[in-house]
Amino acid sequence: MRLSSSFSLVLFLLGVVIILKVDSEQVKPNYADALSKSILFFEGQRSGKLPSSQRMKWRKDSALRDGQDVGVDLTGGYYDAGDNVKFNFPMAFTTTVLAWSVVEFGNSMGSDELVHVTEAVKWGTDYLLKSTSTKNVVYVMVGDPYSDHSCWQRPEDMDTKRTSFFVSDKNPGSEVSAETAAALAASSIIFKTSNPDYSQQLLERAIQVFDFADKNRGSFNDSLGYWLCPFYCDFSGYQDELLWAAAWLYKASKNQSYWDYVVENVHLLGSSRENDKIGEFGWDDKHAGFFVLLASDLIMKGAPANNTFRTAADAFVCTVLPESSTIDVTYSPGGLMFKKGGSNMQHPTALSFLLLIYARYLNHANYKLVDCDGGKATGSQRLIEIANGQVDYILGDNPMNMSYIVGYGDKFPEKIHHRGSSLPSLEQHPEHLGCKDGTLYFQSNKPNPNELTGAVVGGPLPDDTYPDSRKLFVQSEPTTYINAPLVGLLAYFNSPQDLQ
Ligand SMILES: *[C@@H]1O[C@H](CO)[C@@H](O)[C@H](O)[C@H]1NC(C)=O
Ligand SMILES: *[C@@H]1O[C@H](CO)[C@@H](O)[C@H](O)[C@H]1NC(C)=O
Ligand SMILES: *[C@@H]1O[C@H](CO)[C@@H](O)[C@H](O)[C@H]1NC(C)=O
Ligand SMILES: *[C@@H]1O[C@H](CO)[C@@H](O)[C@H](O)[C@H]1NC(C)=O
Repeated sequence: MRLSSSFSLVLFLLGVVIILKVDSEQVKPNYADALSKSILFFEGQRSGKLPSSQRMKWRKDSALRDGQDVGVDLTGGYYDAGDNVKFNFPMAFTTTVLAWSVVEFGNSMGSDELVHVTEAVKWGTDYLLKSTSTKNVVYVMVGDPYSDHSCWQRPEDMDTKRTSFFVSDKNPGSEVSAETAAALAASSIIFKTSNPDYSQQLLERAIQVFDFADKNRGSFNDSLGYWLCPFYCDFSGYQDELLWAAAWLYKASKNQSYWDYVVENVHLLGSSRENDKIGEFGWDDKHAGFFVLLASDLIMKGAPANNTFRTAADAFVCTVLPESSTIDVTYSPGGLMFKKGGSNMQHPTALSFLLLIYARYLNHANYKLVDCDGGKATGSQRLIEIANGQVDYILGDNPMNMSYIVGYGDKFPEKIHHRGSSLPSLEQHPEHLGCKDGTLYFQSNKPNPNELTGAVVGGPLPDDTYPDSRKLFVQSEPTTYINAPLVGLLAYFNSPQDLQ
C-alpha cells in the first residue's frame, strides 16, 4: 500500500516533469528580448572611435585613420558582415531600412530600445554625412576587399590597405549615391522632433546627394567593378535607387517635385505585371520596397484602391504568398522562405517586413484584400501571419529547435563567420594578431570566444538543417541588412499597434 502510493507519487512527479519539459520546448517567443538583442548587434559592427556608451564591451576602436589617404575624415560607420571592409552601398541600405523600422514601429519599441535604435541609425548617418561632405563626390567604400578577405584579423588591429574609393561626376554611381540619399532622407524623419537641426542637416544633404545621383546617371560598377564584384556588385541597375530615393525625399520633405519625379520616372521600372523584379527587396534591388512605401502612402491619402502603386505592391505580395500562382520564393519543409543568392536570411526578414507594413496600411483603409489570381483574394491578416511565422522560425520555432539570433534562447549559432567574434578580444589577447595569425582560430572547432549578441546568421540549408560551421559563411555569417528589417518586425510583434 505504502509502496504503491509512493510509486504513484513518483509517476505523478514524472508526469509533471514531462509536462514541464514539453512546455519549455514550446517556449513562447520573447520578442522584447530578441528586439533588444537585434539592436545591440549593431554595436558589434561599429567601426571608428567607440563612445563611452558602447555596451558591447569586447569591441574596441578600429580603423581610426580611414579617409586619411584622401584628406577626409571617413572614420565611423559599420562593417557590413564578418569582415572589416566598409561597403557604403549595403551600409546605406541598412540605414534606410533601420530608419524605416523606426518610422513604422518606433511606437512599439519602448523608450529604451527607441533610444538604442536611434543611436544605431545615427551611427550610420554620421558616417554617411562624412562620405558626402565634398560636393559632387560620394565616398563609397573604405578598405581593400581582396586583402581583407585573405586575412582573418580583428578590426582593432587590421593592417590591410584602407583605400577610400569614391564616385564623382566623371565616374558616377547613381545606385550608391541615391541609396545614400534615401538613407539620409528616411533618417531625417526620425530625428524631426528629437533633434531638429540634425534632421534638417540630413534632409538638406539628401537633397544635394540625390541631385548629384540623378544628374550624373551611371553605375559605379563601370568604374569600380573590380573592387565591388563579387562582393557588392550591382546587378539591378540604378533606376530603382533613384525612384526609391525620390520616394523617401517626398515622404521626408513633402515637396511636390519629388512626387512629380516619381510619377514621371516610374516607367523606368517596367510594368508591374511583366516586371520580374517586383518581388525583390535587398541591398541591390529596391523594387518591392519602393512600391510598398508609395502604395502605403497613397492608402493613407485615400487614393483609389486600383492605383498603379497598389497594383504593383499587390503583385509583390503575390510573389511571396504560398498559395499564389505567381509565387517567386520557396518555403523549406519547416516553413522558412528561400530565395536565390547568398545569405538567405536577408530575404525572410526583408520580405516579411514589407508584408507587415503593407498589411497594416491595407487594414487601416479597410482595403482588406490582395487579389493574386483573379478571385483568390487574401486578407491582410494572412500577410501578418506569414511575417509572424518567419520571425518565429528565426526565434526557434523550427526543426532544429534553435534560434538563429546569437545570444537569444538556449541554442543558437556558436561558430559564426565573423572575424571579431571568433578571435580573442583585445582584453584576452592584447598582442597584435597579424593577417594569418587568426587562421588557427578560424579553423578551430570551438565556439567563438566573443558573443556578437543579436547577430542573425545567413541561416539553415534549404532542408532546415544548420551545420554551425565558421567555414560555411553562406550559413554562418551575419550581415547588417538581415537585422535592419528584423528590428521593425520584432518591435511590432512585441507590441502590435494599429496605425495612428
Ligand atoms: C555590374 O557588373 C556585373 C559583373 O560584371 C554585371 O553582371 C552587372 O550586370 C553589372 N551591373 C550593371 C548595372 O551594369
Ligand atoms: C522642392 O524641391 C525642388 C528640387 O529640389 C526645389 O527646386 C524646390 O525649391 C523645392 N521647393 C520647396 C518649396 O522647398
Ligand atoms: C480604377 O477604377 C476606376 C473606377 O472603377 C476606373 O475608372 C479606372 O480606370 C481604374 N484605374 C486603373 C488604373 O485600373
Ligand atoms: C525539436 O523538438 C521537437 C518537439 O519537441 C522534437 O520532436 C524534435 O526531435 C526536436 N528536434 C531536434 C533536432 O532536436
